[in-house]
Amino acid sequence: MCGIVGVVGNKNATDILMQGLEKLEYRGYDSAGIFVEGGDHASLVKSVGRIRDLRSKLGIDVSGTAGIGHTRWATHGQPTETNAHPHTSMDERFVLVHNGVIENFKEIRDEYLPHDDFKGQTDTEIAVHLIAKFIEEDGMSVLDGFKKALSIIEGSYAFALMDAQDPDTIYVAKNKSPLLIGLGDGYNMVCSDAMAMIRETSEFMEIHDKELVILHKDSVEVQDYYGNPVTRKSYTAQLDLSEIGKGTYPFYMLKEIDEQPTVMRHLISEYANPDGTMKVDSEVVKAVQKADRIYIIAAGTSYNAGYGSKIMLEALTDTPVELGVASEWGYGMPLLSKKPFFIFLSQSGETADSRQVLVKVNELGYPSLTITNVPGSTLSREATYTMLIGAGPEIAVASTKAYTGQIATLAFLAKAVGVADGRKEAQDFDLVKELSLVAQGIEATLSEKEKIAAIVKDLLLTTRNAFYIGRKQDYFVAMEASLKLKEISYVQCEGFAAGELKHGTISLIEKDTPALALLSDPEVAQHTRGNVMEISSRGGKVVTVAMERVANADDDIIVGDVHPYLSAIAMVVPTQLIAYETSSQRGLDVDKPRNLAKAVTVE
Ligand code: AGP
Repeated sequence: MCGIVGVVGNKNATDILMQGLEKLEYRGYDSAGIFVEGGDHASLVKSVGRIRDLRSKLGIDVSGTAGIGHTRWATHGQPTETNAHPHTSMDERFVLVHNGVIENFKEIRDEYLPHDDFKGQTDTEIAVHLIAKFIEEDGMSVLDGFKKALSIIEGSYAFALMDAQDPDTIYVAKNKSPLLIGLGDGYNMVCSDAMAMIRETSEFMEIHDKELVILHKDSVEVQDYYGNPVTRKSYTAQLDLSEIGKGTYPFYMLKEIDEQPTVMRHLISEYANPDGTMKVDSEVVKAVQKADRIYIIAAGTSYNAGYGSKIMLEALTDTPVELGVASEWGYGMPLLSKKPFFIFLSQSGETADSRQVLVKVNELGYPSLTITNVPGSTLSREATYTMLIGAGPEIAVASTKAYTGQIATLAFLAKAVGVADGRKEAQDFDLVKELSLVAQGIEATLSEKEKIAAIVKDLLLTTRNAFYIGRKQDYFVAMEASLKLKEISYVQCEGFAAGELKHGTISLIEKDTPALALLSDPEVAQHTRGNVMEISSRGGKVVTVAMERVANADDDIIVGDVHPYLSAIAMVVPTQLIAYETSSQRGLDVDKPRNLAKAVTVE
């Protein structure tokens, strides 16, 4: 989703903006642009396509010590050069980049700017015209004009504004969209995420909603919209630049799939003591113990990870677990239990839909926990508690190691709560041993890449649709496996509860329709095998992924046995590889699938 980077000070702004935009590429975008102030000259360069396309348009005259840049993920208007950011006022004095959605942009245009000409269709262009109107027509200072515009604009935004007549200042404001200040020696930066700034600094400062920041090379002034100064301490981020590289891997997704055994072992060291007892914050444990129901709120893969953990969580904590799709719950919660505890699962910690629910949960005064991969992210800051996955940066849009990491993190929480409650089920569950077995099992699956590549070539290379089936825990894995295939290979794929096929969907099975059956549970595997027969006898081609304990000699992929509570972690890995292979064999951009963004920061 849109990314912002800005810098003011003693640095080569063009280089910093371009490097920053490259680091923001993983978020997903369709066009990009930069504005650079060189004192006696200013340059605005925009391009549709990749950052390399923008780079190819830069002349040597695009230089200066201050500037703002942007990657755009189209919401209002086509992905064209005109609609790409930065946007300017009519006289090009004011330059603005924006992440988010201005909900009342039509009303603003009609009420305040009825005679303005707009070059494109974006809500952002309306915002910069509005700011210019207050300053140039109504005679306000830049700061007051910006504030006045902010008092009118409704919706989500992260803004960085420059005035061509004042190349030493960047004005910044945010509401609901992520934005962070980076502090340097003789320069300061603003950016949508820390990763784009870590080459320059490891010192950061948060901006909260409805705060305004005035950035100079030697100072950072934070204030609220009423002009009251805000004192905010900076913090040092523990980010490692080397973790962001993809090394010899053709795609980040493959690297991230391969990192999963390491993530499992990291979580063991993070959340278990050497004697096998849990190292989970006792305050979180107590808060869950008090709850009569756990609500897991999430989107996409994180939502699927919630389902992949539900059986384990309920068994170990003896507390019912209900899942909520964040984008639905934001508009109205169902009748809640008397003592709810909310868990927000989010790789990025920035998903706008999840945040919308968290804001309501906070208003209602209920306790919450965010499980995220990004320390300091919005959901982490705003929830009562945080548990970090620590999986290292996940760059590919398709989430893999965050899914398995989320389930493993929840396992530590569930075990800690169960043990604190004195539940035998939890005491007997040797999580450290079981998760180590999972790590080994994943390693074994990772050694089957060639076999999986051959299956894909045979079954999925040209198909337009596919069906994934499973029962119980395997059904939840089928949901995630099908999302993965869909998002990066553009194959229409549905994850079904195997028993549901016969209630309608089986009519879609015809000769050579591909299907994938997941089998890990001895109680139900035979029933799913029955569904496999039903598909095969109608001409469908079925691949079976079976755990050793239920496997037959002719199953296509056999996964080493793991504890049933953790089976979603082990079973999902071959399906991640299937999705990866399908996308790469089709010659698609595995890491940056069309229309998708890594951090979904708009509603
Ligand atoms: C995963 O492959 C997807 N790209 C997407 O579904 C993602 O999981 C979803 O947008 C939620 O993101 P989050 O975990 O950062 O909140």
